[in-house]
Amino acid sequence: MQKVFKLSQKAMNTLAEQYKTPLLVLSTEQIAYNYQLLQSHLPQVKIHYAVKANPDERIVLTLAKQGAYFDVASDGEMMALTGLGIAPERMIYANPVKTSSGLAVADKHGVYKMTFDSESEIYKMAKALPGATVLLRIRVDNPDALVDLNKKFGAPAEEAIRLLTIARAQGLTVGGLCFHVGSQSPNAKAYLAALELCHGIFEQAKGIGLELSILDIGGGFPIPTVTDDIDIELMLSQIQESLERLFPHTEIWAEPGRFICGTAVNLITRVIGTQERNEQQWYFLDEGLYGTFSGILFDHWEYELISFKTGKQITATFAGPSCDSLDVLFRDIPTVMLDVDDVLLVPNCGAYTSASATVFNGFAKAQLIVWEDTLD
Ligand SMILES: Cc1ncc(COP(=O)(O)O)c(C=O)c1O
Repeated sequence: MQKVFKLSQKAMNTLAEQYKTPLLVLSTEQIAYNYQLLQSHLPQVKIHYAVKANPDERIVLTLAKQGAYFDVASDGEMMALTGLGIAPERMIYANPVKTSSGLAVADKHGVYKMTFDSESEIYKMAKALPGATVLLRIRVDNPDALVDLNKKFGAPAEEAIRLLTIARAQGLTVGGLCFHVGSQSPNAKAYLAALELCHGIFEQAKGIGLELSILDIGGGFPIPTVTDDIDIELMLSQIQESLERLFPHTEIWAEPGRFICGTAVNLITRVIGTQERNEQQWYFLDEGLYGTFSGILFDHWEYELISFKTGKQITATFAGPSCDSLDVLFRDIPTVMLDVDDVLLVPNCGAYTSASATVFNGFAKAQLIVWEDTLD
């Protein structure tokens, strides 16, 4: 049974009194736990945390101490990690379509590992970073994933040998392949199919004298909560079995984002308004769609709202604090009756939440504190 960070009612109330809400509470112990959980099931895999999921420096530094590597998407992430003392050898620039400023920063800081999925990108990389180690991203379809990334990214498998050959001819170091099965994948099916596909391409490459040495199995691992429909242990053991069978001598990397940070943050939010509209109860919260709940829009995530209150159950609609009518979070959901100033707990708020929050309407981003620091 996996450990999941969830504040008690007492802790939530104490923190809500001590700090302003909305408040994000991060458990760095949970970050280390999730990292170790993944590493223990995939022991030979070099775990590159996908910084985009939550770039908070306390998460990055916790992982750096654990020995993690990092997946960076932009010049901004490379500069931020360099500023935190992370060596460039621990980063992969895993954006298949890179900006010129991204390439310039990669060159300046020495980030020489990157991914691509098109011919035009090969010439950009060869010009900006001659000799860089490159991985070709292969398209893998997965209708079961919560967020499908393969409509936008990934070269068709039939194109692989042609693209790898051009990359080699352009003087790049052809490291191998990568894929991303799509975010919050509920089972191992898509990984297993992708591993078979990549194994076939490794064999074809060998046939033309191209010895591929790295396989990056991307992100997509679901957040390690206890749910009926996802069996993390089984999923990871199936992936590990397939890796051992198909890629016993290959260096394996992964780029998990939400698996590492999803369960490590709780949001505490407060009711700031109540009203009846069209015979429906509405509650307005001090955090909304333009803040931590941006994951509803961008990540298609369904958050759990916990009130520790007991009493009459009703259905209600919850909205955020901005003056925008789009800023409605949950419609017609069951809840206990609430009052202005009641606080609510939202667990599993670590991934694709604060990372995509804005200050629209002048609302500041929620402050984030570290749970373990409050225990001193
Ligand atoms: C290239 C790449 N790697 C890794 C990730 C992290 O994915 P996840 O959070 O599903 O593990 C993403 C997410 O968009 C991505 O685009």
